[in-house]
Amino acid sequence: MGFKVKDHYFKKAKQDNYLARSIYKLEEIDEKYHVIEKNDQVLDFGYHPGSWIQYTAKKVGPEGRVVGIDIKEVNKKLSTLKNVDVYQIDVNDVKDLKMLGVDDKFDVVVSDMAPNTTGIKSLDQIKSLQLVEMAFEHLNHFLKEDGNFVIKVFDSHDAQVYLKQQKSRFKEFSFLKPKSTRSVSKEFFVIGKGFKSV
Ligand SMILES: C[S@@+](CC[C@H](N)C(=O)[O-])C[C@H]1O[C@@H](n2cnc3c(N)ncnc32)[C@H](O)[C@@H]1O
Repeated sequence: MGFKVKDHYFKKAKQDNYLARSIYKLEEIDEKYHVIEKNDQVLDFGYHPGSWIQYTAKKVGPEGRVVGIDIKEVNKKLSTLKNVDVYQIDVNDVKDLKMLGVDDKFDVVVSDMAPNTTGIKSLDQIKSLQLVEMAFEHLNHFLKEDGNFVIKVFDSHDAQVYLKQQKSRFKEFSFLKPKSTRSVSKEFFVIGKGFKSV
């Protein structure tokens, strides 16, 4: 997942008792695009360690629900959050919503998934685009009609080509590089609102 940057946002996350600095990216996205509402059911792809879960659990409130999945061992620190369930499973291996303890599709899907990077730029770009494609391909199984989607993307020519093909699946499709993303980073986020399921 790369090295830890001990910058302003890293220190702020520690002070605020958040599990990762990534929280501030989702917070900025949500404040700008209003992706997550009270009482929503949210699915988090690649949730570990769980700062996005901390944010969404609070935002959806006690009547809402957040389900997180990750290939990493379940983070027990999240067990105090009553409206949250986390599973150790690869996104590709979720064959049925029942495996996540739910019957209905989700109002919102968020994905901060990142591959284990090798340091070889071309290879890392391919691996990260594979995760992006996988998340988009699974949306019909997980996301409700008119639902919202947020996903992290590492910029590349191929990523831009792929995203252009996905645009028509949403009523609104926006890109944002949050302030807490390091300026040297090639990551940005795609915000899809109003999913058109098929
Ligand atoms: C940047 S971290 C997520 C940080 C998280 N949003 C937070 O706020 O704490 C990316 C995560 O994606 C997970 N991941 C990568 N490939 C995955 C896959 N195929 N299925 C599920 N999780 C995956 C990694 O294990 C890693 O924990």
